[in-house]
Amino acid sequence: MTIPELLRRHRLVPVVVLDDAASAEPLADALATGGLPIAEVTFRTPVAAEAIARMAAHGGVTVGAGTVTTPEQVDVAVEAGARFVVSPGFSAAVVRRCQEHGVTALPGAVTATEVIAALDAGVSTLKFFPAGTSGGAAAVAALSAPFGQVSFVPTGGIDAVTAADYLALPSVLAVGGSWMVPRSALAAGEFEKVTRLVRESVEAVAR
Ligand code: 3PG
Repeated sequence: MTIPELLRRHRLVPVVVLDDAASAEPLADALATGGLPIAEVTFRTPVAAEAIARMAAHGGVTVGAGTVTTPEQVDVAVEAGARFVVSPGFSAAVVRRCQEHGVTALPGAVTATEVIAALDAGVSTLKFFPAGTSGGAAAVAALSAPFGQVSFVPTGGIDAVTAADYLALPSVLAVGGSWMVPRSALAAGEFEKVTRLVRESVEAVAR
């Protein structure tokens, strides 16, 4: 299954900030048990690459890298086992490196100019970030009108309730967010809480 197909199937992408690589395996189990076997592990902490490697090796979840802003980080992420690479914005160099590695690039775009730049680079599945402060679902709908070939993964400031507004749009494959994997819960080792939040979110979007 391709990454866009996987996103459309699960409809949610947990955006993870891990402070301790030892959380990788229990987190993978919590996500799988909650019914959402996919994760975007952000390069916002020094343990990101190790966490991706450990989650990928543990199995049960498809792991991507997030907050990737340089081609060098793409190399590290792919080496660790990332199947997709998410960026907060559009970088032609990052996209090119993903294409060289054969992994899916999900660059960020919130304007028509950024969407065109991404299409020029051969990418038509885009992260809409930061979604909440960039006009929300109404902005995604407006941007989708001239770009019927583009799919969006809105992320940033979304929660279990507002996710539905985005998911109602045909151009939205999935929404991303950290609400179901709170950094504080991960740091405290509260993986049962993570499983519960994930399960509640999965059930909410299935309604
Ligand atoms: C991201 O990198 O995608 C966002 O930081 C996630 O946004 P959220 O924390 O507001 O869900």
